[in-house]
Amino acid sequence: MSELQRLPVDSQKTETIPILKAENKASRTLAELKGIAKVIPNQSILINAVVLQESQDSSEIENIITTKDDLYKALSETVKKTDSATKEVMFYREALYAGFTELKKHDFISINDIVNIQKVLVRNDAGIRTLPGTKLVNDRTNELVYTPPQTKKEIDGLLKNFTEYLNNDDDTLTKLAVLHYQFESIHPFYDGNGRTGRIINILYLILKQHLDIPILYLSSYIIRHKDLYYELLQKVRTEEAWEGWIIFILKGIEETAAETIRKVKAIKELLDNTIEKVKSEAPKIYSKELVETLFENPYCRIEFIVKALGVERKAASRYLHRLEDIGILRCIKVGKDNLFINTGLMDLLKN
Ligand SMILES: Nc1ncnc2c1ncn2[C@@H]1O[C@H](COP(=O)(O)OP(=O)(O)OP(=O)(O)O)[C@@H](O)[C@H]1O
Ligand SMILES: [Mg+2]
Repeated sequence: MSELQRLPVDSQKTETIPILKAENKASRTLAELKGIAKVIPNQSILINAVVLQESQDSSEIENIITTKDDLYKALSETVKKTDSATKEVMFYREALYAGFTELKKHDFISINDIVNIQKVLVRNDAGIRTLPGTKLVNDRTNELVYTPPQTKKEIDGLLKNFTEYLNNDDDTLTKLAVLHYQFESIHPFYDGNGRTGRIINILYLILKQHLDIPILYLSSYIIRHKDLYYELLQKVRTEEAWEGWIIFILKGIEETAAETIRKVKAIKELLDNTIEKVKSEAPKIYSKELVETLFENPYCRIEFIVKALGVERKAASRYLHRLEDIGILRCIKVGKDNLFINTGLMDLLKN
């Protein structure tokens, strides 16, 4: 067993011409996404939409399969009996937010933050591995793929090196690929290493100001190319094949940034069209806050409108039914509650 090397990696491996070219393309597309996100007046509209998508995709890698309808229903908090897959996605989302909130507070990512993210995610206090025995095996063939560091002392040392490198001044996207390999190879937890690593990816982009808010569907790219993802990770270990791995991740950033740009533009267009429609067909009830609330909560409850607009329940209910009449919302009953679905937005999010 060859020991896991500490960071940084020799720059001859990570600064080849193809890597630098891919770095350039990815960072340009990501910069465009950062700029375009600002066209949405209310950033929580975007955060809600993208974070839920990312949470769903990232959890799916672990075979946690949910539908968007279930997820948004769960978000509207009327469903008491949320199924376990939906809960897992909600935990992922909560863990991502927890990491984002800490990052905003102190502008770096500590070992403690990482431990906390994983804890929110897996809902137990096990923390960093203390018992030996964790191995990575191929789930089809059951073959041993890799044995990560086994002692707490080794893991702690490697994590210290990992966070020092993560927080240093270098802010390239190539570094994200290096970090992701390293984190997965340290494999500090009994479970949730993949999901925690994918949350760190997004937080890194915010830490290094490539993005202001956690909006990139990088996990969707990883699931689409799951086999290649595993293969390239492993080839870094067995062949020091950094270039293939780094370019794979850089391409993923570029592709998913481009996808997210299209999504942001589509949301903006739908928002503008909805505003125009309400203004012309239901002018008496129109307000910017009303429409934005429907975009922040694609499954909207009467209470959300009461809270956002400071109106009586009766008025809020009347507004929502009026919007149903003009074809913007669809009302469904869940238990005793009415939920109003922003159908245009749900179609767009599900596409
Ligand atoms: N050969 C390998 N070298 C390094 N890391 C690997 C290798 N094979 C798999 N991994 C990492 O291990 C992760 C799985 O670990 P774990 O089960 O602890 O995480 P998870 O979040 O529960 O699962 P998942 O990532 O499948 O959602 C993978 O996502 C991958 O990042
Ligand atoms: Mg797992």
